[in-house]
Amino acid sequence: MSCQTPVILLKATIWVILILMSIVGESHGYRLHKTRSRLGHRGKFNGDVYALEGGHKRSRVLYVSPESDRTPFTPFTPFTSFTPFTPFSPMRSPSFPKTPSTPPTKPTRPPGLQVGFYKGQCPSTNVDVEATITAKVQEHFRKDATLLPALLRMQFHDCFVHGCDASILIDGPSSEKAAGPNLSVRGYELIDALKGVAEAECPGVVSCADIIAIATKQLIKLGGGPEYSVQLGRRDGLISKAQDVSLPSPFASVTQSIVAFGAKKFTPEEMVVLFGGHTVGKSHCTFFQDRLHVGASLFDPNMDPSLRRQLSLTCPKDTTTNNLAFLDQNLQSSNRFDNSFFDQILKGRGVLPIDQALARDPQTSGFVLQFAQNPALFNAKFVSAMVKMQALDVLLGNQGQIRKVCSKVN
Ligand code: HEM
Repeated sequence: MSCQTPVILLKATIWVILILMSIVGESHGYRLHKTRSRLGHRGKFNGDVYALEGGHKRSRVLYVSPESDRTPFTPFTPFTSFTPFTPFSPMRSPSFPKTPSTPPTKPTRPPGLQVGFYKGQCPSTNVDVEATITAKVQEHFRKDATLLPALLRMQFHDCFVHGCDASILIDGPSSEKAAGPNLSVRGYELIDALKGVAEAECPGVVSCADIIAIATKQLIKLGGGPEYSVQLGRRDGLISKAQDVSLPSPFASVTQSIVAFGAKKFTPEEMVVLFGGHTVGKSHCTFFQDRLHVGASLFDPNMDPSLRRQLSLTCPKDTTTNNLAFLDQNLQSSNRFDNSFFDQILKGRGVLPIDQALARDPQTSGFVLQFAQNPALFNAKFVSAMVKMQALDVLLGNQGQIRKVCSKVN
């Protein structure tokens, strides 16, 4: 007998025990799964560790649910540092309980988003990944200031359809991106660049949904707008269908818009302050040219005459040109995030039909006046409505996933 025989015998015995335990486990509704976790008892074969939750008489094999239904291993880990269990990938959370935990629970959903969510989440490199993303946004903004309107609109269009889950980023012939209202949404390259930085520093940790939120927040500040702490912890969605895209129309009435925002739990005042996002960016002629020319379906005799002359040059009658005009027609501040959009619409210088209607409808005109007169009030109310919008129907905890590439589900 060689000196290796006892070792072989021991391995064989462990294997028999493991197989028996897995049979017992299956019969009690648990499944055996490969993992690299550190738990009470472990069996090892070909480099794969089978995790067993220890009991004295009978060990239970941990239940690992499918992607959409994952159960966190430890109910003791605070939600801030909660790491969903991923078979075959190295564990990121060092704090694993050695004692048996309670039976598997349903997928958990932490109470909400958190400021500073990624602090300490990249232990191998010890970087502040949020700070890195923020710095990268600044670099891109220096080269292209129109990223502010691009991301602001992208954030709105993402959050209003299935919540802020980056579903707008998914590529495909019938994904949200391909829906009519999203065809002119821009800024995808910035998200890809930021995701590249995040993955290089801290792989598999930062969601695409959080990247949109961080970038939008930072761009608002860079454009001269208010600064706020962005809440993080969103996870990426798995569903993206063009047919689900139902966004309010620029041709809708104020009442219809109030109903659409009300369905997402926004008050009319919050709706008006969010329209303040039209302080930056541009619109194509299609969305406003029918207000310009006598005889056109939406001809607006009350539009400021000098604006009408100006816009008529940009979007001449009976042509198919689809040029662009600033939404904030104070041309000194069309690229700045400030409250001048409200002042403009009070003067009959709104571009989109709905923008102008906000200043004329008694349901919203009072808010428009307040925001036009009081920039500090606009900033404060915009921040709180924005934080609320960025938290709309978010996926948390172990819901959804952290996409590897923002344009496709893992
Ligand atoms: C009822 C609500 C809204 C409607 C109907 C609406 C409609 C539009 C339309 C038609 C455009 C022009 C798009 C184009 O020609 O490509 C536009 C642009 C824009 N919208 Fe809105 N919008 C609404 C709410 C919002 C909100 C809540 C925000 C952000 C807080 C926002 C931010 C923007 C920005 C920044 C642009 C300029 C985009 C760019 O320059 O690329 N909008 N919006």
